[in-house]
Amino acid sequence: MLIDLKGKKALVTGAGMGMGAAVSKLLAQQGADVVLTDLKAEWPEGVAKEIKGVKTMVLEMDVTSNDQVKRAFDKVFSTWGDLDILVNNAGVSSAPGRESVNADREIDWDTTFNINVKGVLRCCEAVITRMKARKYGKIVNFASQAGHAARKSGGAYAVSKAAVLRYTKGLAFELAPFSINVNAVCPGAVWTPFQQRGTARRQAADPELGKLSPYEAFVASYKAIIPMGRPQSPEDVAKAVAFLVSDDACNITGQCLHVDGGTILRD
Ligand SMILES: NC(=O)c1ccc[n+]([C@@H]2O[C@H](COP(=O)([O-])OP(=O)(O)OC[C@H]3O[C@@H](n4cnc5c(N)ncnc54)[C@H](O)[C@@H]3O)[C@@H](O)[C@H]2O)c1
Repeated sequence: MLIDLKGKKALVTGAGMGMGAAVSKLLAQQGADVVLTDLKAEWPEGVAKEIKGVKTMVLEMDVTSNDQVKRAFDKVFSTWGDLDILVNNAGVSSAPGRESVNADREIDWDTTFNINVKGVLRCCEAVITRMKARKYGKIVNFASQAGHAARKSGGAYAVSKAAVLRYTKGLAFELAPFSINVNAVCPGAVWTPFQQRGTARRQAADPELGKLSPYEAFVASYKAIIPMGRPQSPEDVAKAVAFLVSDDACNITGQCLHVDGGTILRD
């Protein structure tokens, strides 16, 4: 297995931190030119500076804005030409700033779906026509172990990730005749700003967790539900993405690769 991405052009959403940053760096390390996009252009700039030997482009792109998505993809197409790889990583655990405001259910569901589901849809639609014309393309969407059945939470986040999984399967079927691979990754528990915010909330609510360091509290929150007993790293997930967007995975489509230490086995 080579995971050779030399000469490929990739775009990653939410590339300024967490798994988006790890994915951008690994795709670049494997030879791809990478467009790093995020809500604010300054967030992925530091990540882009760490990337050597391939081309990078940093663009501001809020995945909830049709205008910004169009502007960003147009910029890429007019300067670099076609994209080979799209990684839809951007996502939120709930409407930003509303994590604990249960009363704002409508806002939470609308905002979470607008980012996690329609954000994926907007970016896929931006590349599909050109990928179909070339009969080549790789798309990876970020879902979650939370998107699978038999989880306690039926909240907006879990349901949005279930929608991403269903959308991924349907799109994979539709685009298979064009040799376009569409897959998902389902991370389990990964220490990123996403989990740092969640851990801070759990520590504030639980005095026992509050006595631990944030990372210890994160591990303590998840350890029991992960059969392998350890959390995953952003790099673990990036490796799964790099495989799925490579030609080594050319006959894999419509699948979800779980990077969760076996958590899915509990369902
Ligand atoms: N961390 C975990 O344990 C975990 C587990 C399962 C799934 N996930 C999923 O993995 C993906 C990455 O998670 P992470 O942990 O790296 O999160 P993170 O919060 O650390 O990073 C998310 C990135 O998405 C960007 N983003 C948010 N809203 C956006 C918008 N409207 N437009 C463009 N970018 C936007 C953020 O600015 C940030 O760069 C998400 O889709 C998340 O739901 C995370």
